[in-house]
Amino acid sequence: MKETVVSGIRPTGQLHLGNYFGAVTNFVKMQYDYNCFFFIADLHSLTTHPTPQDLHGYVRHVLVEYLACGINPDESTIYIQSDVPEVAELYLYLNMNAYMGELERSTSFKDKVRAQPDNINAGLLTYPTLMAADILIHKAVKVPVGKDQEQHLEFTRTFGNRFNRLYNNDYFPEAFAFNYSDNLVKVPGLDGKGKMSKSNGEGSCIYLADSPEVIRKKLSRAVTDGGPLTENQVKPEPIQNLFDLMKIVSPADTLAHFEELYNKMAIRYGDFKKQLAEDMIVFNGPIRERIEGLSGDSDYLRKVAEQGAEKARESARKTIREVRALIGFKSF
Ligand code: TYM
Repeated sequence: MKETVVSGIRPTGQLHLGNYFGAVTNFVKMQYDYNCFFFIADLHSLTTHPTPQDLHGYVRHVLVEYLACGINPDESTIYIQSDVPEVAELYLYLNMNAYMGELERSTSFKDKVRAQPDNINAGLLTYPTLMAADILIHKAVKVPVGKDQEQHLEFTRTFGNRFNRLYNNDYFPEAFAFNYSDNLVKVPGLDGKGKMSKSNGEGSCIYLADSPEVIRKKLSRAVTDGGPLTENQVKPEPIQNLFDLMKIVSPADTLAHFEELYNKMAIRYGDFKKQLAEDMIVFNGPIRERIEGLSGDSDYLRKVAEQGAEKARESARKTIREVRALIGFKSF
């Protein structure tokens, strides 16, 4: 029997290179070897209160981009989280055994408290239990995610094991973060600090759907410094970030060429950023074309979403039936 894999992305607009290299590229590779469920985490996105109009558009973007990146809906189950209400039911059960103290210590909760002090809602606090429900509902053991999600996987194991102890069984397996390389990935942004993320500003992100002009413009504004001060020096974060991006999208000899120029203090950041922009354009090209081709095909998108919802619900219903029995709900 194939091992089960679950992963999802919050719909907040278009997918960027961080989403792609942290998660989606693994989805595409895993789909042939595992029993895969890839979903669009629209319930999670409600923590930031999108308008009804935006919400649907964002979900559609992710669906189109999943397909454009090569997730095959006949190999993997692609679904929208809110189409599977069993997830919300499991979330409720898990919340009964999730404690304030541990939820308040979550790094992503603390980040959100800083970022949106006027909207610290209970959904933010219990974000890790909803994520655990997403994973446990299909009894997954592997979860392809970027490095930023590692702590959420720890929570998932804690809540699954706690349920098992409480009801004296070994019903839920332990799930671990997964990436084909040795380490989980963190794709840096263009703003000189931290990961590529919408919350670090639009300028930090290269979206899969960005046009060549937009990519060139974003790269020309990417943060650099006054240049290396000594030969072979350690690169400061903004420069290292751009080299890390080049490592991802450019051929190895291009990277080696610019490394050498940097080490000899002969690098011109203008040329370096132009080359990086061109390599990103080449990388994005085929995906962007497929996005354009798919985005108007409402009939196909509806078919994929319906087929996914049906398959995901079948698996989720079975889990909920078994979980209800373990908890002690009985019909008369
Ligand atoms: P989200 O929507 O923030 O990001 C989706 C996926 O993209 C990865 N990612 C990155 N990886 C590397 N470098 C980056 N700069 C970068 N930015 C984003 C994330 O690690 C993630 O894998 N909580 C999740 C969504 C979720 C989920 C789940 C994931 C909800 N339920 C169940 C797996 C299983 C999130 O907010 O990801």
